[in-house]
Amino acid sequence: MLQPKNEQDKAKIAAGRKAIATYFRNDMQVGLGSGTTSHWMVRLLGEEVRNGLRIAGVPTSNATRAVAVEAGVPLLDLNDVTELEVTLDGPDEVDREGRMIKGGGACLLWEKIVARASKRMVCIADDSKIVDTLGRFPLPIEVVQFGWRNTVHQLRRLFTEFGFTEVPILRRGGDTPVVTDSGNYIVDCHLRAIGEPDRLAPRFNEIPGVVEHGLFVGIAREIVIGHADGTADVEV
Ligand code: 5RP
Repeated sequence: MLQPKNEQDKAKIAAGRKAIATYFRNDMQVGLGSGTTSHWMVRLLGEEVRNGLRIAGVPTSNATRAVAVEAGVPLLDLNDVTELEVTLDGPDEVDREGRMIKGGGACLLWEKIVARASKRMVCIADDSKIVDTLGRFPLPIEVVQFGWRNTVHQLRRLFTEFGFTEVPILRRGGDTPVVTDSGNYIVDCHLRAIGEPDRLAPRFNEIPGVVEHGLFVGIAREIVIGHADGTADVEV
C-alpha cells in the first residue's frame, strides 16, 4: 500500500500509474528511472508484478535497484539486453518540447545510458515540473574526479560564450563531495534560463573531464503529467 506524504507525492503516483498502464505490457524489458517519481512508479510496478504482470527492468541507479528489489520487480543487467522497449523516468524540469534537466539525484549518467538504450523514453512528472524555459533548476554535470577544478574552469569558459556568468558549484553531501554510482563528482550550474538547450548540449562533449550532462534533449517523446487529484495526461 503506497502512502503519499503530500500533494506532490499524489501527483507523482498518478503519473507513474498512468504511465505503467499506458506503456508496460507482458514480457517487456524496460528501463526504471531514478528519483522519487520513479521510485513511486517502481513500487506501483511491484504491485502489478504481484498481480501477474511479467516484466523485467534495468535500474538507472543503485538506489532504484534497492527499491525494485524491495518491491519485488525482476531486474536485468543492461549488458544482457540489446534494446529496451521503454524507459519511464522523472525530470527535475521538463519543457513542452520534452527537453529535460535531470541529475538532481546524481544519477544522470546511468539514466542517459538506459534512455538511449530504449526504443522509447517517457518522462513521468508531477505538474510542478513543467517549465517554459529550462534552467531555474541548476544543471547537473558529472565530471571525473581527476582535475575537476580544471574541468570547472573549462565549463566556465563555455558558459561565458553562452552569456552565463554563474560559477559551477561542486555538489557536497555534508563535508565531502557527492560521488556518483560511477565514482565521479557532480557540479551544479545555476544557469537560470537556458535559451538554446539544443545548441548548448552537444558542446559539453568538447570538454574531456565531462562524463555526461543533465540536459536531455531529443530523448523523451512523451510526457505523462500527474496531478494531485489522481488524474494524469499523456502529452506527445
Ligand atoms: C536523478 C534524477 C531524477 O530523475 C530527478 O532528480 C527527478 O527526481 P524526483 O522525481 O525526485 O523529483 O534525474 O538523477
